[in-house]
Amino acid sequence: MKVRKAVIPVAGLGTRFLPATKAIPKEMLTVVDRPTIQYIVEEVVASGIEQVIFVTSEGKSAIENHFDYDFQLDTVLKMKKKNKMAEELNHISNLIDIVSVRQKKPLGLGHAIWSARDVVGDEPFAVLLGDDLVLSDQPCCHQMISLFDEVQEAIVAVQQVPLDQTSNYGIVEGRPYNDRTYKIDRMVEKPAPGTTESNLAIIGRYILLPEIFEMLEKTKPGHGGEIQLTDALLQLSQQRSIYAYEFKGIRFDAGDKLGYLKAIVAFGLRHADLGKEFREHLKQMSETL
Ligand code: UTP
Repeated sequence: MKVRKAVIPVAGLGTRFLPATKAIPKEMLTVVDRPTIQYIVEEVVASGIEQVIFVTSEGKSAIENHFDYDFQLDTVLKMKKKNKMAEELNHISNLIDIVSVRQKKPLGLGHAIWSARDVVGDEPFAVLLGDDLVLSDQPCCHQMISLFDEVQEAIVAVQQVPLDQTSNYGIVEGRPYNDRTYKIDRMVEKPAPGTTESNLAIIGRYILLPEIFEMLEKTKPGHGGEIQLTDALLQLSQQRSIYAYEFKGIRFDAGDKLGYLKAIVAFGLRHADLGKEFREHLKQMSETL
């Protein structure tokens, strides 16, 4: 089976980034020259995905509008001979086929993914969190799809974190399978300090099988009163193998204030036109301030 669809949940409230996210979705905050969500959609396009399914909520229409064709803007830009910008905007609206479903209540990531079940149907699919950025040479989603082509089982992307930070993440315990890959034995959402020896933390990239929907249906609210994807995956792991993959790249939690700042610095340094000058500026600033 091939992975053709990507679910991108963007229905969260973004409380960690208030007041910036009171009227603007956190996924629309700019990292250098485009909103966070555009990097994520570009990642799925570069990974060969054919359809994006946004899971949205009230107040998130700016995300859908960003990827839509804006006839009025296109006409005005062309009239003003700003053809290059018109072209760029058309490119964004033609990136990929996008559909949206609504998550009616913010009941957690697991519930957000469950809300996409009818559009996903009976096939494997990728999940990319709308506020998780990965800077890498080969797109993270693409790396995971290559592994999926081999194992045909669910995969979660992980990174090693300091042991004293494991209680901030979903943590997996597993046995090495091959280079960068583990077969998962146990998973736990935000474990209490000292309750796990693993430092493999789940980040916002998954390849899932449609069986996950049945598990989500049965999953009771867990940590924080939310329906946790990790709990449903743990159920699924009783029946099928699940793999953890240590992706190549650097991950930024752009839904967190410090994570967002770090993302701007990293993407700024890597930017084709601005990177060189920005690097000089950062050097000067770190000496001056
Ligand atoms: P977060 O853990 O970042 O939660 O969700 P949040 O509500 O968006 O933000 P904070 O913690 O209040 O600041 C991780 C991902 O899951 C989505 C979010 O949009 C984000 O992409 N999500 C979360 C949903 O789609 N629905 C939910 O009910 C919860």
